[in-house]
Amino acid sequence: MTAPLRTSDPIVVAVALGERSYDIAIGRGQLATLGHRIAALRPGARVAIVTDETVARHHRAATEAALAAAGIGASCVTVPPGESSKSFPMLERVCEALISARVERADLVVALGGGVIGDLAGLAAALVRRGIDYVQVPTTLLAQVDSAVGGKTAIDSSHGKNLVGAFHQPVLVVADTALLDTLPARQFRAGYAEVAKYGLLGDAAFFAWLETNWPDVFAGGPAREHAIAVSCRMKAAIVGRDERETGERALLNLGHTFGHAFEAAAGFSDRLLHGEAISLGMALAFAFSARRGLLPAAEAERVERHLAAVGLPIHVSAVAGGMPDADRLMELIAQDKKVKRGKLTFILARGVGSSFIAHGVDTAEVRDFLVEKLARR
Ligand SMILES: NC(=O)c1ccc[n+]([C@@H]2O[C@H](COP(=O)([O-])OP(=O)(O)OC[C@H]3O[C@@H](n4cnc5c(N)ncnc54)[C@H](O)[C@@H]3O)[C@@H](O)[C@H]2O)c1
Ligand SMILES: [Zn+2]
Repeated sequence: MTAPLRTSDPIVVAVALGERSYDIAIGRGQLATLGHRIAALRPGARVAIVTDETVARHHRAATEAALAAAGIGASCVTVPPGESSKSFPMLERVCEALISARVERADLVVALGGGVIGDLAGLAAALVRRGIDYVQVPTTLLAQVDSAVGGKTAIDSSHGKNLVGAFHQPVLVVADTALLDTLPARQFRAGYAEVAKYGLLGDAAFFAWLETNWPDVFAGGPAREHAIAVSCRMKAAIVGRDERETGERALLNLGHTFGHAFEAAAGFSDRLLHGEAISLGMALAFAFSARRGLLPAAEAERVERHLAAVGLPIHVSAVAGGMPDADRLMELIAQDKKVKRGKLTFILARGVGSSFIAHGVDTAEVRDFLVEKLARR
């Protein structure tokens, strides 16, 4: 038997959901523990890895080696990288591959990749044989702090993003922070927007810590692990209280009402990555909160200052190819959020770390605000 590879002790965050509870193991080198963790959780289970071609090139061999170290054989299905793989054809491909690999109810799917793979593999796992358990091995910062935790899975429809999906919690998340070393800098930075989001929505001390320590988060090492752990703890706590987003979980949408409209306007393309859109959206949510007198202008400027310091966009004018006018953006907001009688639900803030869900925000007021912002080029 091969001895387990030495890794630093992980930070373990528990997601408390009764019988659907699971752990998130965070740390540099944690991928090496994957096989032993799975063997402990599901003795005798076989594994099917779902990944994309780019992630496979970097991390498939190490993943298979980690499984083999615990005597676990694995099949593997690979899809092209990118959002376009969250589609019916790719869902079919993954489901058929899992069935032809004879994955059974007692076996496990391993989602090895970013949010695209987590969402696609998680949905395939929810569907095949009416539900197989799965393990998330997130390989982007966005996936480690956000999409791998909480059990939302989905593919896109021609009508919009994430419209075909299921709630299906993983049984384990292994977030190896070293996997992020191969991630392109722009992708890492985009994921960082979601890290900052946790500070902005509910933890002022964490945001202040990020303002000082962000260079170390980008550099890797203990600060990166700390930032991921704090983020996961907050997401786990919110999901633990509101798994199905009937209330508080909506706070995680801070910056996403504006952000989704910008992403849609950019055609979900490389012109604007999700996290970049969320950076713009959070800057605007704080500016809008200031305009409504909820917080001082200086507080909104503080948010902009930090996002700009790490290189994230804070002005719509920064988007390559430009953005449409306020009316078109309002149409996109309406499609995403289902405006009811001219009123919107919005995540606003009373300050850094104090976001809240505001119902009944007047769409005309949001439009006026966008007109002002778009005029500032
Ligand atoms: N389920 C949820 O709760 C939830 C939450 C937020 C976002 N999402 C979804 O997540 C998706 C975005 O996720 P993402 O930003 O991780 O995108 P992604 O999965 O497309 O990954 C981004 C790019 O990085 C590459 N990549 C991934 N890991 C790498 C690594 N370690 N080294 C080198 N390259 C690597 C990928 O191949 C891809 O090209 C969206 O579809 C979004 O809807 C889901
Ligand atoms: Zn997001």
